[in-house]
Amino acid sequence: RHPSVSHPQMEDVPLLRGSNCRAKGAAPGFKVAILGAAGGIGQPLALLMKMNPLVSVLHLYDVVNAPGVTADISHMNTGAVVRGFLGQPQLENALAGMDLVIIPAGVPRKPGMTRDDLFNINAGIVRTLCEGIAKCCPNAIVNVISNPVNSTVPIAAEVFKKAGTYDPKRLLGVTTLDVVRANTFVGEVLGLDPREVNVPVIGGHAGITILPLLSQVNPSCSFTSEEVKYLTSRIQNGGTEVVEAKAGAGSATLSMAYAAAKFADACLRGLRGDAGIIECSYVASQVTELPFFASKVRLGRCGIEEILPLGPLNEFERSGLEKAKKELAESIQKGVSFIK
Ligand code: NAD
Ligand code: LMR
Repeated sequence: RHPSVSHPQMEDVPLLRGSNCRAKGAAPGFKVAILGAAGGIGQPLALLMKMNPLVSVLHLYDVVNAPGVTADISHMNTGAVVRGFLGQPQLENALAGMDLVIIPAGVPRKPGMTRDDLFNINAGIVRTLCEGIAKCCPNAIVNVISNPVNSTVPIAAEVFKKAGTYDPKRLLGVTTLDVVRANTFVGEVLGLDPREVNVPVIGGHAGITILPLLSQVNPSCSFTSEEVKYLTSRIQNGGTEVVEAKAGAGSATLSMAYAAAKFADACLRGLRGDAGIIECSYVASQVTELPFFASKVRLGRCGIEEILPLGPLNEFERSGLEKAKKELAESIQKGVSFIK
């Protein structure tokens, strides 16, 4: 019996003519796993990935409730075949053969907490999941969502180094929500459709390490110093704004699932060989003296094909960068030390 907890009918009922069939004529797609798929982010992300035509197989793994989420999602008449996996004994089957693994597993913040307050629980979760990836799908692209991203990405890198499978081109911290928020808030201030706005956000994914480059907004525009202060603070504190509004019931899940699905789609289009796929992401980097940094990257068949230069920063952004680097260095070191 297949370890999958969904589609028992596929295995057990002779009435069905196909096992795990895709629609006739469907293009071959990619195999994607979501680890933490029953969570606040995991569920809507599973829904969005089931709707992505580039996905042929979707594995949903969690330590709780994976069968229910899988049964539910599997009834959507879209192309991807969905299989569920519950608990540590099924982790390896969840990961075998995957092209892309997305990790939203871990605890979220409550009001009054920083992302770094999640380190003690989430560091161990990310370590265990990355050990599984190193063993079962060492060539997969990995998208890390679990906080604190500034530390969990270095943790993942150290786990892969230990296992001898590390390829910095395939490990990406998801900072897309910062860009999504920046585009929305800038669109509001300028009276533009947020879909037409593109704000590069560099640095990391926590407080002052989130650095929107308002001098590089596309379409080109200018802001008053008051607008710059308002926008920078709103973008840096977007996560806290949601945590406080949810008042103890978690952090951003729906906007995050949207952002993660957007980023995963960009990774898959890159794998397919599409040209000119540029996204901001927190990755192993040499654009600053720090070993990890978020900036624009070009995605391709091997994952990260190129890390783009930061471009010209104004004085406000240069001073923000210096403050961000100090905090980032500590978060990176904390992650590295956790594994070493
Ligand atoms: P949640 O508690 O709703 O869901 C987390 C899920 O992870 C749960 O279903 C839980 O069972 C599962 N899980 C726990 N341990 C696991 C393990 N060892 N293996 C597999 N699954 C496991 O939390 P959420 O709101 O979905 O947030 C998840 C994480 O994403 C948090 O750390 C949060 O801070 C982070 N987050 C990151 C961003 C970002 O921009 N990168 C944005 C929002 C949230
Ligand atoms: C976010 O930016 O919404 C996430 O990192 C979750 C959080 O804790 O703020």
